[in-house]
Amino acid sequence: MKPNGLKNLGILLSGRGSNFVAIADSIDAGRIPGARIAVVISNRADAPGVETARKRGLNALVSASKGKEREAHDREVVAALKKHNVDLICLAGYMRLLSPWFVRQFPQRILNIHPSLLPAFPGLEAQQQAFAYGVKVSGCTVHFVDEELDHGAIIVQKTVPVLDSDDEHTLAERILEQEHKAYSEAIGIVLEGKFEVVGRRLVRS
Ligand code: GAR
Repeated sequence: MKPNGLKNLGILLSGRGSNFVAIADSIDAGRIPGARIAVVISNRADAPGVETARKRGLNALVSASKGKEREAHDREVVAALKKHNVDLICLAGYMRLLSPWFVRQFPQRILNIHPSLLPAFPGLEAQQQAFAYGVKVSGCTVHFVDEELDHGAIIVQKTVPVLDSDDEHTLAERILEQEHKAYSEAIGIVLEGKFEVVGRRLVRS
């Protein structure tokens, strides 16, 4: 908590950054009370999300991961997050697995968004996996990050029907619309703090 009462968010991304933009828009519109984006960090210099963040007047930096050992890179990222006094980290299309060391620095303070209804279709290209499997309903999940891939306690899920007329792109687009809503909702729930995690279950009080 900062003296002005705001919680500092640190956004990690690797690409387009549409989830980051949705979070920033929600904050600007007052839909996530008490939050500000303290820093945006990309592990790729060419991530469009970095430029978008700078255009919005936000601190945005690149900590290139290519060729670096995972934990060595994570130490750079964590140093930047701590320098900006980040309270909550939001992975927003951050396509790099965090080391157990990173996760332990911020217990229950790292969120991720994944474009499927976990535990179905973890890993890469979840929307394509779901489409190819033939599910009739898919969606997205915002969850706490633990030391396993796409695994921590679930905060928010939103469902999306798979239509006969869909291809994997149209399905991914409709899932993305729901992602943009789900992430802000999940951040609001976590910052409000009125929940406990019982086993794997996030129970709101
Ligand atoms: C989003 O669909 C997000 O759920 C996914 O990457 C995309 C990033 O888009 N993340 C993962 O697959 C993580 N396993 P964005 O850069 O426009 O937010």
